[in-house]
Amino acid sequence: MTNEDFFGEQNFQLSPQKVENSCPSNIALIKYWGKFENQIPANPSISFTLNECRTVTQMQFFPNEEFSVETFLSGNEEKNFALKIEKYFKTIEIYLPWILKGSYKISTENTFPHSSGIASSASGFGAIAKCLMDLDNLFTDNRQLTTTNQKASFLARLGSGSACRSLYNGLVVWGETPVVEGSSDLFAVKYPDTEIHQICKNFKDWVLLIHEGEKSVSSTVGHGLMKNNPYAETRFQEGRDNFVVIKEILKNGNLAEFITLVEHEALTLHAMMMMSDPAFILMKTGTLEVINKIWVFRKETNLSLFFTLDAGANVHLLFPNDNDCAKIEHFIESELLQFTQKGGVVKDEMRF
Ligand code: DP6
Repeated sequence: MTNEDFFGEQNFQLSPQKVENSCPSNIALIKYWGKFENQIPANPSISFTLNECRTVTQMQFFPNEEFSVETFLSGNEEKNFALKIEKYFKTIEIYLPWILKGSYKISTENTFPHSSGIASSASGFGAIAKCLMDLDNLFTDNRQLTTTNQKASFLARLGSGSACRSLYNGLVVWGETPVVEGSSDLFAVKYPDTEIHQICKNFKDWVLLIHEGEKSVSSTVGHGLMKNNPYAETRFQEGRDNFVVIKEILKNGNLAEFITLVEHEALTLHAMMMMSDPAFILMKTGTLEVINKIWVFRKETNLSLFFTLDAGANVHLLFPNDNDCAKIEHFIESELLQFTQKGGVVKDEMRF
């Protein structure tokens, strides 16, 4: 299946509409870092969807007005975001032929702090894609509701790659891999729940806000720098190979191996940044302090606290939601909060 034949010919009938949707964020275990034309990932990735961190988006559509987009974040107009959305809508006109035939007012709210450095592009584009599919179902007669979520994932991917994984709960795969049936470079699919050990279905994710505010290098620029990275091909192959490894771990619930793999993926992501030209480092001193503290804590207590990182300085602290979690939470509160910029921590968990 190609991009082009995913959406068929459509006749449409427009009317003024107001739709609202929310979409959660996600955090990758095997990372997507490096992409080709049309948002095709260089290697498959797998994430879990979060429960608390989400974006709520209200989209108003006014047909027969000149195409324009106004965006508001928590009531404040965001002109740069509007320009990004206008560009995005133009790129998806081939799939939604009505999309440029009116004006939009888009209002979004995030449940997590606005300047926290928690990526809002995954939940943001996920929510926008859901709104667009609602409008598409209202305007067109060839409704295929069973595939609406898959189409929303397809559209979300074209806005931001990692967003396509936010359309499903649980563990979610984006990128074709022989290890996951039905997986695709064009949209995400749910990893089969029946192939996941109970222990891998119930992690907490506390996000330590080490550095709040804008990142020095955006993900999109970072992906681009993989093009000339001499280690890129090795990394892409490792990402593919790690699917074979994670599939086995998810089945047998070997937590020690899971931790090794997840932390390795996080550190490899940041190693790629350091080996880019120009090189860049998104981790801060606090990120490294926290990682070292986690390793010492794990060695001393044998408790399963581990971490992953996204493209920023914040640390996602992962731990099983079981009888030991109170001890781990106490350690975080008493030993790790000091490394945050303003004492910020977002307490989240996997959404299944
Ligand atoms: C490090 O999805 O934000 O979080 O496709 O350019 O919007 P664009 O990039 P984005 O990249 C996310 C990278 C990552 C890893 C991941 O989520 O897999």
